[in-house]
Amino acid sequence: MAHSHSDTEATRRDFLYIATGAVGAVTAGAAVWPLINQMNPDASARALASTEVDVSNLGVGQQLTVMWRGKPVFIRHRSEAEIEQARETTLSDLIDPASRNNNLAADAPADDANRTLERDPANPTGEWLVVMGVCTHLGCVPLGNGAGDFNGWYCPCHGSHYDSAGRIRKGPAPENLHIPQTAFIDENTIKIG
Ligand code: FES
Repeated sequence: MAHSHSDTEATRRDFLYIATGAVGAVTAGAAVWPLINQMNPDASARALASTEVDVSNLGVGQQLTVMWRGKPVFIRHRSEAEIEQARETTLSDLIDPASRNNNLAADAPADDANRTLERDPANPTGEWLVVMGVCTHLGCVPLGNGAGDFNGWYCPCHGSHYDSAGRIRKGPAPENLHIPQTAFIDENTIKIG
């Protein structure tokens, strides 16, 4: 069917309008995208997020390693012997007297109670220890499960020994294994971050 002249003009105008509008939309889209992209939870943002770990199957004397912010975190369900050994260590025995516990004030001392995480703070047991699995010397991942001279962790890179509270006791590492922000959010779940 033949279009009248005015129909053709209208169609052409509509096309130009739509085309112009589309270009505008693309331009606006291109300008907005970087902003949206920045707001997307990309890998680095996700890495900052907290993580929740079910520890219901982690028996006494066992350890779990989880990745958080791209780094290993050791969650240890300590045995009576480990707790006792850590608790009978005095501050004067330590290389680093600071707790390095992000849940406490920066000047909190490194006694064992300041290193452990309590499921029920009203009934402390000292059973749970959550530490970054990153040697404070040059960042290697220490070996655990009672490794080293102090029944804790041993970093084979340059020979740093950590005790059963993750405190540096021998070797070149200057600081205790760091403790991230942690909390029991219910009986069997530890939240990190
Ligand atoms: S990185 Fe652990 S002792 Fe050097």
